[in-house]
Parts: sequence; structure tokens; C-alpha cells
Amino acid sequence: MDLRPLLSVLAVLGPVWGSTLDVDYGGVPLWINRYLGEPSVLSLRGRMDPSWFRAVNTQSCPTECECPIRWPTALYCDYRGLGEMPGGLPSRTQYLFLQGNNLTGFSPDAFANATRLRWLFLDRNQLLSGRLDAGLFSGLTQLVNLFMNHNNLTEVPAGLPGQVRQLRLAYNHIETIPPGTFQNLQNLTLLLLQGNRLKVVGESDFRGLSSLNLLDLTGNLFEKFPRHLPPSISQLYLSNNSMVGVEGDVLQGFPSLRYLRLGRNRLRDGGVDPAAFNLSSLVELDLSYNQLTQIPVVPTTLQYLYLEANQISVFNVSSLCREVSPTAYSRIKILRLDGNRLLHHQLPADWVMCLRVLHHIYV
Ligand SMILES: *[C@@H]1O[C@H](CO)[C@@H](O)[C@H](O)[C@H]1NC(C)=O
Ligand SMILES: *[C@@H]1O[C@H](CO)[C@@H](O)[C@H](O)[C@H]1NC(C)=O
Ligand SMILES: *[C@@H]1O[C@H](CO)[C@@H](O)[C@H](O)[C@H]1NC(C)=O
Ligand SMILES: *[C@@H]1O[C@H](CO)[C@@H](O)[C@H](O)[C@H]1NC(C)=O
Ligand SMILES: *[C@@H]1O[C@H](CO)[C@@H](O)[C@H](O)[C@H]1NC(C)=O
Ligand SMILES: *[C@@H]1O[C@H](CO)[C@@H](O)[C@H](O)[C@H]1NC(C)=O
Ligand SMILES: *[C@@H]1O[C@H](CO)[C@@H](O)[C@H](O)[C@H]1NC(C)=O
Repeated sequence: MDLRPLLSVLAVLGPVWGSTLDVDYGGVPLWINRYLGEPSVLSLRGRMDPSWFRAVNTQSCPTECECPIRWPTALYCDYRGLGEMPGGLPSRTQYLFLQGNNLTGFSPDAFANATRLRWLFLDRNQLLSGRLDAGLFSGLTQLVNLFMNHNNLTEVPAGLPGQVRQLRLAYNHIETIPPGTFQNLQNLTLLLLQGNRLKVVGESDFRGLSSLNLLDLTGNLFEKFPRHLPPSISQLYLSNNSMVGVEGDVLQGFPSLRYLRLGRNRLRDGGVDPAAFNLSSLVELDLSYNQLTQIPVVPTTLQYLYLEANQISVFNVSSLCREVSPTAYSRIKILRLDGNRLLHHQLPADWVMCLRVLHHIYV
């Protein structure tokens, strides 16, 4: 057995997720994107002869789909140009693959017989919010993973059952979060909303998400750093928005925040409070591709600092180290300052004393 994919899963998920995530792949053949930690699903298409399958498999199987013999809880109906959900869904189904079709919506009882569903893949369809009944998913009391990336949703779907752990809604047209959407989702740990059209976060929009760990809001329309985010988050991705500043208090109240990505915004010194990022929990801070002229004050516990492609012209050691002594130094391992207005010979003599455990510096 080739253990490499498994090892890379562990390598990716280990440090990021720690033990907080109960990874339930249920035997699903997945590839994990090493950089994003994102599962992508292997299609069975072209791997097996469907007619052979049908001839030897005695279990019921919708004609549009394939039912792997060794994995009776899975149903593959992906990449078939389906405009409608196949009828006669076997009630044994726990993993339903419907990605890459042409679905715009579902009848209200489409999942009525699929009460054992755990993972539902609806990526790359044309789903419209107006064609998803409010009660569509509410009977799926085993559902833990819902994939709806790359669709045409304009709202976060309502009525999700309370035990859902991962919700992927990246690359839709989402502008609004209807009131109470997340109210019951206290077990949700991962919420992907990158590539949507969110502009503001209302006070109660994310209310209920008491276990949320990762929130990805990359590539939306935020002009201001959003407030009212769930206090439990440890990974917050807000790159590729249009934010000009970060107020001093906006990052207070996130005791677990470890990974903060704010690259590709329009951050300027005037808008960024000098102490906004001085949070002792931070491990990684990405401020690349902004308009900063100074290195902001960061905690000495920070390990990864990305400041490439800004307009920084001075290297002020005090941003990284308040004092330098045998016990007081910066834990930074990787520091990127390339694509700025700094030259190597401009580094002050004392930087080596401060950056004592540095692995790589790019100037
Ligand atoms: C997908 O659905 C749309 C509208 O329902 C239709 O116009 C189009 O031909 C369909 N495409 C495919 C590949 O079936
Ligand atoms: C659910 O199962 C019942 C009984 O087998 C059947 O009559 C009904 O049509 C099924 N509903 C759906 C939406 O498949
Ligand atoms: C979904 O959005 C795409 C553009 O992102 C568009 O081409 C397509 O027609 C839309 N589909 C529906 C059913 O509205
Ligand atoms: C959330 O997860 C816990 C622990 O796994 C479980 O006991 C609880 O029932 C779940 N909550 C909901 C609403 O399903
Ligand atoms: C940034 O987001 C926009 C949409 O808001 C998208 O078109 C663009 O490709 C993204 N750029 C990068 C570098 O991710
Ligand atoms: C940054 O945080 C440290 C530790 O909490 C504190 O001692 C220091 O004064 C802070 N610096 C600034 C500029 O806020
Ligand atoms: C470095 O920053 C500190 C405060 O953060 C400031 O007092 C000092 O003047 C700065 N030094 C230079 C050379 O800019």
C-alpha cells in the first residue's frame, strides 16, 4: 500500500488542525492540496467500465450513477451533465458525488430518503439560492461535510442541520448571510467563503459559530476589516480584498488567532494601527502585496512574516524585538521583505541579535 497520500494528509493537517478536527474520510479516495489542506475528490470516471459494474453489482443503483462494489455507501453521479438529481437514491448512501453537473436546484424532498448522508459533494454545478428549499438539508442528521464550491449561490443556504462540521461555499456569488443561518451550527469548524461578494459582516451574521476554527474570506469585497467574527477562529484569511486599514482593537478578542492572511489588500501605514498585529497568539502573518512603508509591530512569538511587495524602506528592529537579551528575541523563522525598497546593506547591525532563530530571510 502506498502511504504517501496518507502521510501528506497528516503532514498538512497535523500542525494546522492539531487534534481539534475529527477527520472523517470514511474511505473516500481524496487528494489533499498540500498548501490549502483542501480535499479534492477523485472521480471514478474512466477508471472502471460502468457496464461491468452494473452486471456484477446486485445492489440497486440509479441508472445515471455508478455504485462501487467495495464501497456500498458511496454513489458516484459526478460529471454527467445532469440537470436533475437522479431519482431512487439508495438509502444506504453516505457519500454522494454530484459535482460537475448542471444542477440548478432540487425538489424539496430530494434528500428525503438519504438520511444517512455524511458527505455531500455539489461542487461545480449551477445551483441557485432561489431553488434550494429552506428545509432541503434539515433532515440530513448525519451530514458532516457539505461541498458547494463553484456554484451560483447568492446567499448562504439556510436550514443546515446542527452537526455539520465543514461547509464549503467558495466561488459563488454570495452577498448575504440570511438572519440566523449559523444559529445552530455550533460544531462547524471550517467555513469557506472565498471568491464571493461579501462586503460587510453584520453583528449577528456569524452568531452561533462557537467552534469555528478556519474562516476563509479571501477574494471578497471588504473595504474595512470586518468586525463580529467568531472569537474561536484560529485561521482567518482575508487576502485579496480592498481593505485600507486595520483598526487597533479589531483583532482583540480572538485568543486563538494563529494564522492571519491579509495579503493583496491596500493596507497603508496611516490606516493600520501600529499595534494592531501585536497579538501574542499569532504564528503567521501575511501582509504581502500591500502599500506599507514600515514594518508593523509584531509579537516576538511570530514565526512567519510575509511583507514582500510593499514599499518598505527602513528596517526597524524594534518592530520585531522590543528588547534584545539572552531570553528576549524574535521567534521569526521566515521573513520575506523582497520587492520592497530595502537593500541588504541597509539592515542594521543588530538584526542578527534579534532574529536569532531565522531560517530564511528574503530581502
Ligand atoms: C445546463 O442547463 C442549462 C439551463 O438549464 C441549459 O441551457 C444547458 O444546455 C445545460 N447544459 C448542459 C451541458 O446540459
Ligand atoms: C423515498 O422512498 C419511498 C419508499 O421507498 C418512495 O416512495 C419515495 O418516492 C422516495 N422519495 C424520493 C424523493 O426518492
Ligand atoms: C451561473 O453563473 C455563470 C457565471 O458565473 C453563468 O454563466 C451561468 O449562466 C449561471 N447559471 C445560472 C443557472 O444562472
Ligand atoms: C456536536 O458535537 C458533539 C461532540 O461530537 C456532539 O455531542 C453534539 O451532539 C454535536 N452537536 C450537534 C448539534 O449535533
Ligand atoms: C482576487 O479576487 C478577484 C475577485 O474579487 C479575482 O478576480 C482575482 O482573480 C483574485 N486575485 C488573486 C490573485 O487571487
Ligand atoms: C506588544 O505586546 C507586548 C506583549 O503583550 C507588550 O509588552 C508591548 O508593549 C506591545 N507593544 C506595542 C507597541 O503595543
Ligand atoms: C523604530 O520604531 C520605534 C517605535 O516603534 C521608534 O521609536 C523609532 O524611532 C524607530 N526607529 C527608526 C530608525 O525609525
